[in-house]
Amino acid sequence: MAKKRILSGMRPTGKLHLGHYVGALENWVKLQNEYDNFHLIADYHVLTTNLNTDDIYQNSIEMAIDWLASGINPEKSPIFRQSQVKQHTELNLIFSMLITASRLERNPAVKDQVRDLKIENIAFGHLGYPVLMAADILLYKGNVVPVGDDQIPHVEIAREMARKFNNQYGFVFDEPETLLTKFSRLMGLDGDAKMSKSLGNSILLSDEPEIVKSKLKKAVTDTQKVRKGDPGRPEICSIFSYQQRFNEGETVEIEAGCRSGALGCFDCKMKCASKISSFLEPILEKRNYYENRLDEVKNVLNEGEKTARATAESTMTEVRTKMKLG
Ligand code: TRP
Repeated sequence: MAKKRILSGMRPTGKLHLGHYVGALENWVKLQNEYDNFHLIADYHVLTTNLNTDDIYQNSIEMAIDWLASGINPEKSPIFRQSQVKQHTELNLIFSMLITASRLERNPAVKDQVRDLKIENIAFGHLGYPVLMAADILLYKGNVVPVGDDQIPHVEIAREMARKFNNQYGFVFDEPETLLTKFSRLMGLDGDAKMSKSLGNSILLSDEPEIVKSKLKKAVTDTQKVRKGDPGRPEICSIFSYQQRFNEGETVEIEAGCRSGALGCFDCKMKCASKISSFLEPILEKRNYYENRLDEVKNVLNEGEKTARATAESTMTEVRTKMKLG
């Protein structure tokens, strides 16, 4: 039986952090053998939150480097920019006719973003975020979409778009399914529930050991644990959550030490920094390799874009035929 296909994507907001790795990339790398993969750099979607395009290209390159450094194999899995495959805009337009504005206004993922970013007047294209995302997935006939739980409402709309199109014009699209990442969120250095670039509480995949150390030194732990000797609450501490992820072998001991007070935050942080840096070491090494060979990275995108275009065009031929627009 043919392998099922994964369509995964991220908005290029620059260098990636550990939260991206744990919440998505690690999973993408694991799934490479089991599925056919297409990896999309959503450089149109990024316009929904930032109209300034000066850094889009550079950010896309940085993101591609992080993907490659994390183990995405471009020979197996094309990496491509959305903006370089014009079929996205065509399918987006067709899909936009098949969904009501009120359905899009009810989408909780867009509502949350509008609230978090304090957007007063939402753009037409921003409301249509999930319509473009449906086009991203369905152009490649993605069966499976690996995402965090915040993206579930978007994938639900992609399923509706597939049904709606098939009912109206005849079968072209299978309904895609979400594949939730188990360890899908990493806490921020400030104790926030989510590591995120915009909150400035992240450890980048490109952070050298000295940077990791200095970021952890400043990290917020249990505010009731002021000095060594005070009992701490690991369950609310971001550092402990990193220990669980990057220093599994010592967590029992660390938890006991934190609770009793025998282990102070500084020592705990330094243990953690060294574990995170050993984890990042191979990624940093590969990153350096690609940073010194940007032509290779550009070539990966060129090749990926060729493959993506051919696949997308073949789907659009079917779409146009069904719609008698051929
Ligand atoms: N919405 C995704 C994010 O914010 C990015 C994205 C765009 C995407 N198109 C996609 C994800 C298609 C999966 C499939 O990270």
